[in-house]
Order: sequence, then structure tokens, then C-alpha cells
Amino acid sequence: VKVLAVLASGSGSNLEAIAQAIHDGKLQAKIAVVIYNEPDAFARQRAEKFGIPAILVNHRDYKSRKALDLAIIDILKQYHVELVIMAGWMRIVTQILIDAFPERILNIHPSLLPSFKGIHSIEQAFNYGVKITGCTVHLLSLEVDSGKIIKQAAVPVLPEDSLADLQKRIQVQEHIIYPEAIAEYISTL
Ligand code: GAR
Repeated sequence: VKVLAVLASGSGSNLEAIAQAIHDGKLQAKIAVVIYNEPDAFARQRAEKFGIPAILVNHRDYKSRKALDLAIIDILKQYHVELVIMAGWMRIVTQILIDAFPERILNIHPSLLPSFKGIHSIEQAFNYGVKITGCTVHLLSLEVDSGKIIKQAAVPVLPEDSLADLQKRIQVQEHIIYPEAIAEYISTL
């Protein structure tokens, strides 16, 4: 089975969906380690729940993005990670990390790329007034939210939606497509 690492900054609901898919036998993989950068990220508790080691790499302790990425690479190598899963990792990565894992880093973004790249994507789409948005699993590239698309799900925006309603509907789809996308991508390796 492929050895994964999950990088998360916040709640970690995608981490949980992936760990659950592995537990349920829907994804033949193992999460060797979770790396998180915000000391109070709920992702840490979710990792603990699944018995996965969680390591804090606080970006505030590093003098540059490169230094942060080097620390991450050290951990990834130490755990013999083959595929890196970014699940709400809210740091811009450097070429060093991409070169250490060429075509082996996946990310999830809460819009139908190439629309609404960057931050606050759900809000951007909501404010723009699109009637369909969604989520995208893609390969990581240096330019943010621009790598090869692996899988997408479309999500309707309903007339009575609040931003929170839309966010929930998108996250439901994220939790479905991310484990599927990982399984499909692994099968091509
Ligand atoms: C997800 O909705 C993901 O698409 C988004 O952060 C959320 C993390 O949720 N990622 C980005 O916005 C990347 N720019 P989670 O911590 O509950 O998995």
C-alpha cells in the first residue's frame, strides 16, 4: 500500500474523510504522518482519533518558506512518504518541496478550477453569483491552484443559500471526491 502524509492547517475534515476511507477499505493506503502548522488545528485531534502521529511544524519558527519546506521534507523522508496529500494546507509552497516529490503532491481546492483561485474561493464564487461551483483535486504546482486536474465535483448554488450553506455543500463533495481521487491517482502510479 502507498504511504501517505496529510498536511493540514485547520479543521482537518478532509483528513478525517481520507482516514475513514482507508479504515473502510475503500482506499488502499496508509497515512504515516499528519503535519500541521497551526498549534490549535483540530486536525491534530482527528489524527489522534485514528492513531496517526501528528507533528507540528509551526511556520512562525522558520525564517523563510524554504526553511519551512525543508523541515517538512525531513519529516516526509523520515516516514518514507510516497504521496503527499494537502488537505487545507494554507501555506504557499516552494520549488524545493515540489522537486522533492515531483508529481506526488495532491491538493484540494474549493472551486471548479480554473475559476476562483487563491483564498476565500467559496466567498469569491458566492459573491460573483455563479449558479454552479464545486471542488477540485489537482496536482500541486508552483503557481497556486494551477496543477493538472485529477478530479472535480460540481455543486449547485441555490437561491436561498447562505455562504455557510454553500460551504457545507462543497465540503460534502470534497469528502467524497478526495479519497476517490487519491485511489484513482494511486492506480496510475
Ligand atoms: C477545504 O474546504 C479545502 O478545499 C480548503 O480548505 C478547507 C479545509 O478544510 N482549501 C483551500 O482553501 C486551499 N486554498 P478541512 O481542514 O476541514 O479539510
